[in-house]
Amino acid sequence: MQPKIGVTIGGFEFETCIFNASGPKDETLPLLERIAKSKASAITMKSCTLEPRVGNPEPRYVDLPGKSSINSMGLPNLGYKEYIKFAKTLKKKYKKPVIASICGMSLQDNVTMFQAFNNSAADIIEFNPGSPNTIGKPIVGYDIGEMDRSLAKLTKICKKPLGVKLPPYFDFVHFEGMAKVLQKYPVEYVSCINAIGNALVIDPKKEQPVIKPKGGFGGLGGRFIKYTALANVRKFYELVGNRIKIVGVGGIFTGVDVFEFILAGATAVQLGTVYMQEGPKCFARIQMELVSYMKKRGYDSLEDFRGKLKTLD
Ligand code: SIN
Repeated sequence: MQPKIGVTIGGFEFETCIFNASGPKDETLPLLERIAKSKASAITMKSCTLEPRVGNPEPRYVDLPGKSSINSMGLPNLGYKEYIKFAKTLKKKYKKPVIASICGMSLQDNVTMFQAFNNSAADIIEFNPGSPNTIGKPIVGYDIGEMDRSLAKLTKICKKPLGVKLPPYFDFVHFEGMAKVLQKYPVEYVSCINAIGNALVIDPKKEQPVIKPKGGFGGLGGRFIKYTALANVRKFYELVGNRIKIVGVGGIFTGVDVFEFILAGATAVQLGTVYMQEGPKCFARIQMELVSYMKKRGYDSLEDFRGKLKTLD
């Protein structure tokens, strides 16, 4: 018998626990249709803003050795009205959950977009207060008071299951502060983690940063962030996992990586850098690797090991 790797999020059936993270190659309808036709179990759209954005100057994404990446894309997107149209097309053509991702430049922008997506074909709304790449804007997810005010307002408006994509936290005090806020609101899942913000990669031959925006400062993704992502999944699973699902994202390249994230407490995982580097076939490959590793370990379903990270005695 094949191990079961399907999950339910917000009342929607996901055929597997593996789908795409908002961000890489998901800005346009043709790109979203590539995801729809792949083995990704859902289609997460690019984080959108009220108005279209061209994003930051290029070069703004660079692959790094060791299956990692740095980017400061600056939220290039077509504006939320296009993603409302895309959700309708995607729902009509494909039988997969569609996730809208919202990253407004202000709370009022977010309110407007949440209201609009309530009446859209998108199944789930993911609020993205964790982007490190908007020039002149702080990472909202690091301001616990602002997160409280935002969630108070947005959860009142939101009529769809709500996900929140969090930036990485590094200190237990911050995990606990954020967890306290999350506990107050009807949040379906948190996605841990967005890129580790404001890293600097230098090309020693050119004596320059490798990306142009923000003097070379950008979000680190891929393998370099896997262990921080695992720690965030584990901590939020311990703090809010009784009520809020955890979706793991950061440095997942193999089925064994997925296994580790589920063991730490994740319900599902999203793929970012690996999708950017390998393209849509990564979903089928990683799914097969997960199934084969579960068989090897004698597990029939994700529930057999989710969150059951053992301690060292
Ligand atoms: C970007 O477009 O800058 C990436 C979005 C994000 O960091 O959430």
